[in-house]
Amino acid sequence: MAEQTKTQIAGTIGEVMITEEEIEAKAKEIGQKITEDYAGEEVVLVGILRGAVVWMTELMKNIDLDVKIDFMACSSYGASTKTSGVVKINKDLDSDIEDKNVIIVEDIVDSGVTLNYLKGHLTNRGAASIRIATLLDKPARRRVDLRPDYTCFEIPDAFVVGYGLDYDEKYRNLPDIGILSPRIYEHRG
Ligand code: IMP
Ligand code: MG
Repeated sequence: MAEQTKTQIAGTIGEVMITEEEIEAKAKEIGQKITEDYAGEEVVLVGILRGAVVWMTELMKNIDLDVKIDFMACSSYGASTKTSGVVKINKDLDSDIEDKNVIIVEDIVDSGVTLNYLKGHLTNRGAASIRIATLLDKPARRRVDLRPDYTCFEIPDAFVVGYGLDYDEKYRNLPDIGILSPRIYEHRG
């Protein structure tokens, strides 16, 4: 079983960038920070499907507050490693966030276009406050002025997969984060 996982990783990602253990340690730190920052209040974690689910699961276990969760799905990427700049909401919130403290939980902030759009969307819904908790941040690629409030790791400009992050809906299940081998996508547009 372990051998199979190694083979899977060896064929998909060139090198491991961040291990599961490193992420878990960071999730603990950020969970504690959120617990302090929102002491005595309730928060609604809004996970952005599907990339944020693994990270959101880890993060929420470390927040010692009244926590509600909800999910949204949007797309700006197809089977490509470059953003189209267009954000489409495929699944909206199920709950009312009026006067709530919302924390958007995202897998990675790249150009920032997605989160910028979502922040506006949730502001229009009357949220009392909106912050962003991201697993990864690629500041070098930012196209809008957007700074996440809680970041696990800043990474260089490389396309990464694992721990929820995909390429063409694959590799979300890899336990660690690594740079996708260019040979996986070099024959695609
Ligand atoms: P943004 O709107 O450019 O910030 O795009 C954010 C979204 O693009 C993320 O939620 C991911 O779905 C996707 N994305 C950006 N960079 C990567 C990456 O390196 N690996 C996998 N998905 C990525
Ligand atoms: Mg995503």
